[in-house]
Amino acid sequence: MPSFKVVLTEHGYASTDCEREIVERAGGEFICAEQLPPPETLRLCETADGILCRRQEITRELIARFRRCKVIVRYGVGTDNVDTAAATEAGIIVGHVPVYCVDEVTTHTFALLLACVRQVVTVQKKMETGAWDVHRGEPLYRLEGKTIGLVGLGNIGQGMARKLRGWGLRVLASDPFVDSQKANALDVELVGFRALCEQSDFISLHVPLLPETRHLINAESLGWMKRGVVIVNTARGPLIDLKTLLKALDAGQVAWAGLDVFEEEPLPPDSPWRSHPRVVISDHTAWYSEESQRQLQRIAAQEAVRVCTGGLPESLANPEVLKKLGRWQEWKPSENVRWQLRRLEQFRKDA
Ligand SMILES: NC(=O)c1ccc[n+]([C@@H]2O[C@H](COP(=O)([O-])OP(=O)(O)OC[C@H]3O[C@@H](n4cnc5c(N)ncnc54)[C@H](O)[C@@H]3O)[C@@H](O)[C@H]2O)c1
Repeated sequence: MPSFKVVLTEHGYASTDCEREIVERAGGEFICAEQLPPPETLRLCETADGILCRRQEITRELIARFRRCKVIVRYGVGTDNVDTAAATEAGIIVGHVPVYCVDEVTTHTFALLLACVRQVVTVQKKMETGAWDVHRGEPLYRLEGKTIGLVGLGNIGQGMARKLRGWGLRVLASDPFVDSQKANALDVELVGFRALCEQSDFISLHVPLLPETRHLINAESLGWMKRGVVIVNTARGPLIDLKTLLKALDAGQVAWAGLDVFEEEPLPPDSPWRSHPRVVISDHTAWYSEESQRQLQRIAAQEAVRVCTGGLPESLANPEVLKKLGRWQEWKPSENVRWQLRRLEQFRKDA
């Protein structure tokens, strides 16, 4: 008789043999509910000890029905599709996988940025029509000597800073939970968000979606930016007020945007972002490589098993739940989650 049950709600991967093997080896039962009708999945989740999810919205209403659940692990870094406040109130740990795709996301960010700066897609489209012309339209500008602003200096922001070494760019970052010592070690100047907007030629977003970061890029912050700025977002769509960005692109205030993430996903077929001449897009795939996907599936299953067998996860998105569970002292936070603790302390101070 298995000692615990882990339900996977949906995934979209070719195989979940990896998760099954990890759960079963630890003495648990693994159920993949992807092909089941939603009411049946919910019924299974009501009696699950651990739940694995990818894109599904895990709302307060659903959480209220998870009677045995100890842990919800989201496949990925961001946990904005899980109501973490409701999970905390219910004493449920929200796990996630914070460092499985730093190489992929930073490489993808460079791909979008460089495609914008060198107008790769525009040139390709013109060449497909038979054209061959150096002075083919809008001028291109040199990268060296310009300033790039990283909003968020966590795992991916730091990965960006490391890869930016040698590019000849001045690198700024804004992150209220990072100290200047860490920034200095990465050759990054730590500045406030407004100063970053005012001074950067290129702005790249690497913050989580939180109430205070929703629409961080809005009419006000766009107004602080240099005319002709390039904005890249591989973090979360709702960090940008996309309607306002569209107007800023059409008015030339923003020269180019490179977007992997959108406020509405999947992007509707008739979305203006699909055909804008000064936008380079991808379909929320910055995280993906065969290697990162395998790592993601393995770590998510291991985290669920850790909690279901009485341990604590290596990373969690709601560290405050451990106080509620009386397990605060047991937990040794990794560098990955320390900023979340600083954010919580800040909120308590401000409250
Ligand atoms: N497109 C993709 O496929 C993909 C893949 C992985 C991660 N992501 C997204 O990338 C983003 C960054 O991921 P990460 O792994 O670096 O996360 P992380 O938790 O390691 O770092 C986030 C950083 O943001 C900082 N931060 C928090 N609030 C801030 C604010 N108001 N202003 C400035 N900085 C703030 C934190 O201090 C932290 O250093 C997340 O939104 C994540 O969901 C996207």
